[in-house]
Amino acid sequence: MSARKKVTIVGAGMTGGAIAQRLVEKGYCDVVLQDEPSIVETMHHGKALDLAQSAAWAGFDSAITATDGWEETAGSEVIVFTAGAPRKPGMSREELLNNNAAIVRDKVTNAVRHSPDAVLIIFANPMDAMCHVALGASKFPRERVMGQGGMLDSARYRTFVSRELGVSIRDVHGYVLGGHTDTTMVPIVSATMVGGVPLTSLLPKERVEALVERTMKGGAEVLSLLKTGSAYQAPAAATIQMVEAIVLDQHRLIPCSVYLQGEYGIKDVFCGTIVKLGTGGIQQVYEVPVSEEELSKIRAAAEANKELIGLLEPAKA
Ligand code: 2OP
Repeated sequence: MSARKKVTIVGAGMTGGAIAQRLVEKGYCDVVLQDEPSIVETMHHGKALDLAQSAAWAGFDSAITATDGWEETAGSEVIVFTAGAPRKPGMSREELLNNNAAIVRDKVTNAVRHSPDAVLIIFANPMDAMCHVALGASKFPRERVMGQGGMLDSARYRTFVSRELGVSIRDVHGYVLGGHTDTTMVPIVSATMVGGVPLTSLLPKERVEALVERTMKGGAEVLSLLKTGSAYQAPAAATIQMVEAIVLDQHRLIPCSVYLQGEYGIKDVFCGTIVKLGTGGIQQVYEVPVSEEELSKIRAAAEANKELIGLLEPAKA
């Protein structure tokens, strides 16, 4: 028996596999890769064994195993749900709604039975709506159900800003709030700082708008290049930051989708904002000071998510 904390990754596709690799190489937790033989046959077992055999040279002691069931996932501190279909080129994330909702509902119900104290990170798309499904299926408090989207979208935004200005990405501080869709993301330009200098003083308005536009379509751009599926490297790196903040109780301030309870005047719906992550999940929800225009876009994102939730088919008994 290992004394290390356990993190389960549900779904061993490209993203699940990339998260597993990055996580196990960190060495601070054991990783369980859960998937169903009927969907991907034995691929999750292959990925876990291959990764375990990389330990000698990659230099980690953490264990990585795969399972078709749920017993081996018991007592997980964090569970990341990547299961579900990815977009195909030309598709929106929203088109995946009911197909992925059924998968997320089933997986969350099974997972929380064995890990009643876990923190759930939802990755499947359309992510903000899938968080709603996960909250309902788990009956967890909002502190323990969150969606990964803001970390990835912020990473894309920072990439484009740093390339445009020719500066280190480490000195670009900017966040994307709102929804994780091509039309509802809200890069917070008014608070974007580059080495302490406001972005708006470094670039003309049209250039900033172009960067915002590219950020919002960032997932679709990678998808159109990969052709066979969605991005998975940046998504995995983004997810790891969230897992790490929780497992290592880092108290990091991270953008993610959270069940808002009055913040920004929004209630009872998931939407992206900044939260403090540590042991037990969300330790604080922040309402970021934004411009009037950004505020109305954040509210519109929450409304769009409510509409999507309204299209969810009821769970089959
Ligand atoms: C993306 O934006 C997969 O939604 C994810 O690439």
